[in-house]
Formats: sequence, structure tokens, C-alpha cells
Amino acid sequence: MTLAVYPGSFDPFTLGHRNILLRSLKIFDEVIIAVGVNQNKKTLFTPQERVKMIENEVMNIDLPKNNKVKVECFEGLIVDLARKHDAISLIKGVRGPVDYDYEAQMAGMNTVMCPDLETIFLMSKPEFSFIHSSLVKQISLMGGDVTGFVSESIKNELKLKSKK
Ligand code: PNS
Repeated sequence: MTLAVYPGSFDPFTLGHRNILLRSLKIFDEVIIAVGVNQNKKTLFTPQERVKMIENEVMNIDLPKNNKVKVECFEGLIVDLARKHDAISLIKGVRGPVDYDYEAQMAGMNTVMCPDLETIFLMSKPEFSFIHSSLVKQISLMGGDVTGFVSESIKNELKLKSKK
């Protein structure tokens, strides 16, 4: 069984994230979506909310029999979480050169800390390459329509936050 960890803030999980997940499931049997908890980073959704929202997304995906997806939050180093689960890879979605620069630095440092863990970069499909969680939040909080960026259920969760 091949297992990979797909880490991110997922605040919120977008259609771009969903596409990366689906494509990574063609490569790996099991993917653990790891929701990063960073006490210094302000997020719209709590880690528990993000986990629940992603679990809900996953429930609506018709997964092939041999595929499994788990969602959990983590605090600390991603290499430690990967080791804990005996993961062979980290999955990273790359939208363009800005993502690449940052991700390449992280992949390099993670490789030094954990040489057996391979970071796999999946290039975003063009139709998702402009989707940023931060912009999705901004649009929604300002009353805009985020159809095409997130699922209907996440769109509703965003609307609920805008009312608070
Ligand atoms: O969606 P994001 O905000 O790009 O996700 C960033 C995340 C959570 C994947 C990244 O910050 C991370 O891996 N954090 C864990 C801490 C860690 O391992 N830092 C060292 C990386 S070299």
C-alpha cells in the first residue's frame, strides 16, 4: 500500500485542492489530508471546522475501492507527521512560479530532515491555477459569489461566516 500526505492550510478547501487530491489518488492508494495548525496564522475556519468540511467533501467523492482518504489536523513539522504514518511522499499542488519558489525551499529542507520522503509536485490544471483560498475568503466576505472556486457546501460555510 502506498501512502502520501497532502498538507495545507485549506482555509478553505477549494476546487483546486480537490483536483490535486483526485489526481494524487491515481498515484497513491491512500492520502492523508493534513490540515496545518499554525498558532501564528489567523484563519477563518478553526482546524476542527476545516477537517469537518474536508471530510464532507471527501464523502461526496466516489472513491475507487482501493483508494482511502483520511483527514486530520497537525501541529509541528510535516516530516514528523509523515514519519508517524510511514508515508512515502508529500503531495504539493503548484499553481505557478510563486508557489514553486516557496515549495521548492520547503521541499529542500524537508528532504534534508527526512531523506526518504519524496515531495511530489502536481501542477495545477489551468482552470484551477488562479484559485487562492485567501481570495476566495475575501470575495465571499465581501458578498461576492464564489461558485466555481469552492463546492456548494463550502460556499454555504463561507456565507455563514460572513453573517457573523
Ligand atoms: O496551504 P499552505 O498555507 O501553503 O500550507 C502550509 C503548510 C501547512 C503545508 C506548511 O506551512 C507546513 O508544512 N507546515 C508545517 C511546519 C513545517 O514542517 N515546517 C517546515 C517546512 S520546511
